[in-house]
Amino acid sequence: MSADTFVRVAALGDLEEDTPKRVEIDGTPVSVIRTEGEVFAINDICSHANVSLSEGEVEDCSIECWLHGSSFDLRTGKPNGLPATRPVPVYPVKIEGEGPEATVFVSVTQES
Ligand code: FES
Repeated sequence: MSADTFVRVAALGDLEEDTPKRVEIDGTPVSVIRTEGEVFAINDICSHANVSLSEGEVEDCSIECWLHGSSFDLRTGKPNGLPATRPVPVYPVKIEGEGPEATVFVSVTQES
């Protein structure tokens, strides 16, 4: 994967801990989540029905779908419980710089 597929999504300081930020990258809705000292990017659409995951709760490195309660591991996109059975795509994240001014990039051209 070439470095230029990464798109700037936010400054690190603009991402509130455990508060998903919904962005669109080349038409792909992505939820960017800062939690447990890391930043994750997961497709914003639940694999069970067409609802936005970024409106759900973040806990234990997972995001819970607000509609029926499946939660998805932010590292793998795999559901931790029913009713969802299929994973949600997750994407590589790159951070350049230091502190709150650091820039967060995500690439949706390849799933991580
Ligand atoms: S729509 Fe997400 S679990 Fe049903």
